[in-house]
Amino acid sequence: MNGLRIPFNKPFIAPLELESFMKAVASDHISGAGKCTDRVEDLICSTTGARRTLLTTSCTHALELSALLCNLAPDDEVIVPSYTFVSTASAFALFGAKPVFVDSRQDTLNIDASLIEAAITPRTRAICVVHYGGVACEMEQILAIARAHNLIVIEDNAHGLCAKYSGKNLGTFGSLATQSFHETKNITCGEGGALLINDESLIERAEILRDKGTNRSNFLRGQVDKYTWVDIGSSWVMSDLLAAILWGQLQRADEINARRIDIWNCYDIELREWADRHGVMRPFVPEGCEHVGHVYHLRFREAEQRKRFIAHMKEKEISCVFHYQPLHASPVGQRFGGFIGQCPVAEHAGDCLVRLPLYNTLTESDQTRVIEATTNCTP
Ligand SMILES: Cc1ncc(COP(=O)(O)O)c(C=O)c1O
Repeated sequence: MNGLRIPFNKPFIAPLELESFMKAVASDHISGAGKCTDRVEDLICSTTGARRTLLTTSCTHALELSALLCNLAPDDEVIVPSYTFVSTASAFALFGAKPVFVDSRQDTLNIDASLIEAAITPRTRAICVVHYGGVACEMEQILAIARAHNLIVIEDNAHGLCAKYSGKNLGTFGSLATQSFHETKNITCGEGGALLINDESLIERAEILRDKGTNRSNFLRGQVDKYTWVDIGSSWVMSDLLAAILWGQLQRADEINARRIDIWNCYDIELREWADRHGVMRPFVPEGCEHVGHVYHLRFREAEQRKRFIAHMKEKEISCVFHYQPLHASPVGQRFGGFIGQCPVAEHAGDCLVRLPLYNTLTESDQTRVIEATTNCTP
């Protein structure tokens, strides 16, 4: 990624994915909506329990599709965490809605459910939560708030395919949920995403919006004899070639996630004493949450300490990177967003959080080097 001996992330495409890719090439169907796409969509539904899955060109596009499905009017408001990737908010701003930023919980960095009610106004239409690192938000509480105020819940589950909350898969709590298959994610095809639809009434329109506003899905199923322009929409269909790679990755999902969890647990055990000694915060996984080892992060007390840590690790040829910059403080967030009060947790994480290398082919000896380099650092 940046030339250091131990990168932060390293995608791994196994022979199974390559075989699946070559079969897709040989099938002469390399655009979207082919057999590979159908198989992957069905597999994601049967694995997670989602009613319908639509593969998309990215998680960002799945979020945009969600925004369109919410039928937002200009100045409608969507509650989002400040500590998240740009797309969680920009997808709604793109269609004229105002993202309203809420701070995160100190322990999980997920949206602080206790702050949501205060952010609701008569213009609020939806809450888009992010399961940071695949660790679930407090979905019971969030769904109860949404029910009380008649709001749509969208889960930005970019990090957490196969992760669970109270035994139920993330991505199946909201009316809609989005996944990312970007190269940094546990399961990847380079660039890609998915929309999981749990509210049956949204399925038909979602198929139309994803496919340029046409009823081509109905045509492909033989339900109409020609397809035409029936709504607005865009070109968010994933190529079958990428779906073929995803098929291979998903066959190995348990193995991929188990290896990542081993690495994550090893960091957590080996760094505990050092972190406690230096007042460095480690990730927290509440009871009832089963994560998939997506992110291992440390939070220093001060920004200077993080800077020194990253430089120290770089000297040892190890790449450690920070994550989000709080959106309420970004130039566009300030222009288009609404936020209530301050977001001190998001600001602190923006300044002080660092992620350690975590990828499937990280060897034991390289992980030991990362741990030794970390514990040799006095932040
Ligand atoms: C929480 C979250 N949402 C959305 C995205 C966007 O994903 P994609 O690159 O697939 O559009 C990311 C990217 O990392 C993310 O972290």
